[in-house]
Amino acid sequence: MAYDLVVIGSGPGGYVCAVKAAQLGLKVAVVEKRATYGGTCLNIGCIPSKALLHASEMYSHAAHGMDALGIEGLTPKLNLMKMLAHKDATVKSNVDGVAFLFKKNKIDGIQGTGKVLGAGKVGVTSDKGEEQVLETKAIVIATGSDVAGIPGVKVDIDETVIVSSTGAIALEKVPENLIVVGGGVIGLELGSVWMRLGSKVTVVEYLDTILGGMDGEVSKQFQRMLAKQGMDIRVGAKVTGVEKTKSGAKVTFEPVKGGEATTIEADVVLIATGRRPYTDGLGLAEAGVALDSRGRVEIDGHFQTNVAGIYAIGDVVRGPMLAHKAEDEGVALAEILAGQAGHVNYDVIPSVVYTQPEVASVGKTEEELKAAGTAYKVGKFPFSANGRARAMLATDGFVKILSDKETDRVLGGHIVGFGAGEMIHEITVLMEFGGSAEDLARTCHAHPTMSEAVKEAALGAFFKPIHM
Ligand code: NAI
Repeated sequence: MAYDLVVIGSGPGGYVCAVKAAQLGLKVAVVEKRATYGGTCLNIGCIPSKALLHASEMYSHAAHGMDALGIEGLTPKLNLMKMLAHKDATVKSNVDGVAFLFKKNKIDGIQGTGKVLGAGKVGVTSDKGEEQVLETKAIVIATGSDVAGIPGVKVDIDETVIVSSTGAIALEKVPENLIVVGGGVIGLELGSVWMRLGSKVTVVEYLDTILGGMDGEVSKQFQRMLAKQGMDIRVGAKVTGVEKTKSGAKVTFEPVKGGEATTIEADVVLIATGRRPYTDGLGLAEAGVALDSRGRVEIDGHFQTNVAGIYAIGDVVRGPMLAHKAEDEGVALAEILAGQAGHVNYDVIPSVVYTQPEVASVGKTEEELKAAGTAYKVGKFPFSANGRARAMLATDGFVKILSDKETDRVLGGHIVGFGAGEMIHEITVLMEFGGSAEDLARTCHAHPTMSEAVKEAALGAFFKPIHM
């Protein structure tokens, strides 16, 4: 049978594209080589890590955060196997959810490794070695990304002593010492998990700051918060070697500016130095599909590659490697394939670091506005001046709104604080509609909520905050 659309990969980009296309009346198949749907995000990424982040937060809160609220004498006991079982159950319910959506939308899920055989043809080899060829009008490459490793350094990731994020969400013992190579999102999220469960965590980061690319003020303050929580953060340090030892592994790094190398040891080392687009074995070169210099599938403004009828979305193409960006691309592409006008607004894609406190951001950073020569205003409001935050002892952090000096249009929003990942969306919606700081400041916000700090920051950008 011929399909309208065959999607290779069932992560957030691929499965969402498939569901949307089926909803719009297309006949769709999804090829997935894993035994379950959902890709990295649902199986070994976003979802399991959030289960562990939440559970470890609860543990740490029960151990340290209750006395001040008048709840004394709690000494929580960690049952790591049970915590990991909670994570596994969370994954299962999510991947089962995708299977349900496929069934509901009459999408054919095909187990096997997909290969592009040219426009209109996808070869599939199942785990059992059975082969078939699917005929289709359009092919969508949604194969995501894989661990990049450390540029120029040979690292043997065994997923027990030297781990990627995959091994770091499945450690069966809390490491006494954990070294994290890379102070990006994965390193800080998973480093936080094990720190809260009792590990001594050292983060080694090449840049002068953690969370490179985030608003500078935000990453600076956030680094101080993590240090206060006990994370040993070494910035400006280039890792040049990671090797196994008898008792664990050792990491060698040297100052980026030059100087003597240092070697430290730990029982577990997490490699979190980025991800690379995953196109291995897809047959793209043979099919004539062009990649860019960074190995990403090249696409035009409508997600089409240089070969007509072959499209690509998500981590395998340009742009931030974020599940929600992939999802939005999946929806837009399905709409385009169904003859509608699909579109993604790349200027308004939120990003969240799910640590405690959370870090969330959307739009431009102050550094980006300066570099572009844009005249802007800044409104800032600390949670220490917010009533609800005080009641919850969640006063760490602030909201920062950046707006155009002339038009007052909001250009960026940045939040460090409890619940930042939820609060960022009111700024996101405002920006999507081209709203101003005054619009946000004049929108009634329920009292007492943490979100009032967003309103106050907007007031600050537009005129003056009331409560400061
Ligand atoms: P990343 O790109 O966020 O961070 C990697 C860090 O490693 C960078 O700060 C880089 O400077 C550093 N680094 C590179 N080479 C180094 C060396 N030799 N020595 C020391 N430091 C070195 O990559 P990460 O954290 O691995 O995440 C991969 C992707 O997954 C990212 O695109 C991220 O956005 C995404 N992701 C998003 C999450 C979220 O939105 N909450 C959660 C997890 C991952």
